[in-house]
Amino acid sequence: MLVAGPLKRMLSPLVNPQVFDFWASHLSPTLSWERPLAKVLARRVEARDTVTLVLRPNRHVGGFAPGQHVSVTVSVNGVRLTRSYSPSWLGRRRMAITVKKMPGGKVSEWLTECCDEGDVLEIGPAFGDMTQPSLERPWLLVAAGSGITPMMSLLRAAATLERPLPPIALLYWARTRADLCFGRELDQLAARLPSLTVQRLLTRESVLLPEEHSGRPDETLLRALVPDLAAQQAYVCGPAGFVATVRTLLEGAVATCQAEAFSLPDVSVVEGQPVQVTLARSGRVLSVPAGAPLLAALEARGERPAHGCRMGICNTCVCGKLAGTTGDLLGGGLSQEPMGAMKLCVSTARTDITLDL
Ligand code: FES
Repeated sequence: MLVAGPLKRMLSPLVNPQVFDFWASHLSPTLSWERPLAKVLARRVEARDTVTLVLRPNRHVGGFAPGQHVSVTVSVNGVRLTRSYSPSWLGRRRMAITVKKMPGGKVSEWLTECCDEGDVLEIGPAFGDMTQPSLERPWLLVAAGSGITPMMSLLRAAATLERPLPPIALLYWARTRADLCFGRELDQLAARLPSLTVQRLLTRESVLLPEEHSGRPDETLLRALVPDLAAQQAYVCGPAGFVATVRTLLEGAVATCQAEAFSLPDVSVVEGQPVQVTLARSGRVLSVPAGAPLLAALEARGERPAHGCRMGICNTCVCGKLAGTTGDLLGGGLSQEPMGAMKLCVSTARTDITLDL
């Protein structure tokens, strides 16, 4: 950044940030007045349909703790779209995100197939509570699919600590061997960290290697893989169904359990029963399917509410509900009262509602 500190404060009233950014980007693609931008330095294939992007952030990109997420905004066919990913620091002010192409996912498709060296991404503030567990108890990290990315960030950071680490067990589920990420890096970490054990579990591989396991999570398998279950601080990350299953198995069986899903639970849209959503500020009245996640339903009607993670963690999509009954996709309850803070991404309309939008 060319302009910093007191000089920037003095110039602020005189500067239009958009105009500054337009001209500054001709000098350097990540030079900006205040936008947090990161340049793609390298791209490597990590697993099937999965790439790791190595990024150099500008000084406006905030810090993040290992295990947290950031919103990544890209422009796809002229439309700005945001999704969240779990970054890792790589040292020398470089960070990495690993992205799996999701069916129908415009951002993940662009990041995995089109994004290349030199491209610039916008990086939002960090969010999420699944940061470094205490060093006083064993860690149990349970991941499925892309749920490995926050675990990898925790492990990379743990490897830099200059303190003895407690026992760390990583249980990593994937469909097949080709879907496993960070193969060599995990082996190297396990070789460097005597307290780390890595268990790979494959659900759709017909022939297993000696160090691999099969089977979906159940109590017998968990107790076989982690004998001292009761002592563990468990962190769980993966698709909603996987996280719900593992959370049910672990709660009460381990010392602590924290879980994050990177997808929403299956929702039951009430077919044939559209409801009216009134947007109080704009006056628009939209018809959306009852039971559909409100953020997605509003987007399908051309609205662009602010959002980040789309999974109920970052609070970016919070808005007020002024009237009507809404459902909570994560907690499962219904709310009939007007309320000041409702997350659009994990809420549904159950009757006609009015939003403070
Ligand atoms: S978009 Fe993050 S909580 Fe809704």
